[in-house]
Amino acid sequence: MKINAYIARMNKAYLFADIARRVAEYTAAHPGQDILRLGIGDVTRPLSPHVAQAFSKAALDMGTPEGFRGYPPYEGYDFLLDAIIEKEYAPLGVKLTRREIFVSDGAKSDTGNIQELFSPDTRIAVTDPVYPVYVDSNAMAGRLGFQENGVYPRLITLPCTPETGFAPKLPDEPVDVLYLCSPNNPTGTALTYEQLAPIVRWANAHGALIVFDAAYKAYITDKNVPHSIFEIEGARTCAVECCSFSKNAGFTGVRCAYTVIPEELTGLDGDRPVSIGALWRRRGESKNNGVSYPVQVAAAAALDDTGAREVRALVDGYLSNARVIREGLEKAGFTVFGGVNSPYIWLKTPGQMGSWEFFDALLSRAQVVGTPGAGFGAAGEGYLRLTAFNTPENTQAAVDRIVRAF
Ligand code: MLT
Repeated sequence: MKINAYIARMNKAYLFADIARRVAEYTAAHPGQDILRLGIGDVTRPLSPHVAQAFSKAALDMGTPEGFRGYPPYEGYDFLLDAIIEKEYAPLGVKLTRREIFVSDGAKSDTGNIQELFSPDTRIAVTDPVYPVYVDSNAMAGRLGFQENGVYPRLITLPCTPETGFAPKLPDEPVDVLYLCSPNNPTGTALTYEQLAPIVRWANAHGALIVFDAAYKAYITDKNVPHSIFEIEGARTCAVECCSFSKNAGFTGVRCAYTVIPEELTGLDGDRPVSIGALWRRRGESKNNGVSYPVQVAAAAALDDTGAREVRALVDGYLSNARVIREGLEKAGFTVFGGVNSPYIWLKTPGQMGSWEFFDALLSRAQVVGTPGAGFGAAGEGYLRLTAFNTPENTQAAVDRIVRAF
């Protein structure tokens, strides 16, 4: 058989798999060293008690004749869809119906899979730096051409720099799909209402789709930052929104997420408008069998009053770590961004060091793991991402070690 050359000719490894391998090699060569991990955005605090109890009770119910359930509904149980509508969107003034919400195992899967709905010649634009999944998934489908010297010939990149607060400039060439992430992974900055509204207007004017990754919305602290793109007028005709229970409720290991696709959102089959939600439903029903009952019960518990309170405490704990990193490094003379509406801190490398050079130096001189900015795109060169997801003690220790070592 012939393989998919678009996958075969990609970078050898996914960014975070590559880093895990490098750290494993370092650890094997330096046994006994205490490594502090501020690399991948993986949570460290346990599930909240209320969520864990709901999760385990639902698992036990599955072991009884009355409580047993087989295949879940493809797009999610009504109790979870209703909780999302009432607890996540109604307070924002955003009205959704059950049919507009699609429960899944992860925002990573959803942002990676959504490209299956696009034609092969769709022109894709991403911010630079960018969460690599949007690029990799389109590259695997052959939509970006073969990478040459690290550049995909058919990918449109919108460089994001400190000068614009890492907000993208609108594309000046034709674009069909724009991926946006706010609060942003990796820069840790967030788009304000004023920054997002013109992008929505541009998308409607040009018939473009915005894939809006809102996985970090729980971290928003500024009043001028929207929690959903659907707070912006006109977004229902140009956007889908991907959300997750991973980074707020600590579900990186449990796996539950959802994507919102408004009923009126369409794409074109020739001249004929086709519902994006109907396509996503058709695709999903052939490829998935939904998310397990105990996981959806746990997700709904994370949204009820007790759960939301406990989840808020988890997020506040990580935000407090973010403040420790931001303020500690700033005081020591580093240039840092993010960490106010996000668990990510985007750190300028000291002394013009390259991203990977700084990653290596950080590991060998401070035994701290970060993520090199260059791994997120060319505009990430000269930066390194740190996460606030470790414990308060490890976070403080990592800051102290970085300050001492550089
Ligand atoms: C991140 O650290 O950016 C993500 O959590 C990693 C991933 O989703 O692969």
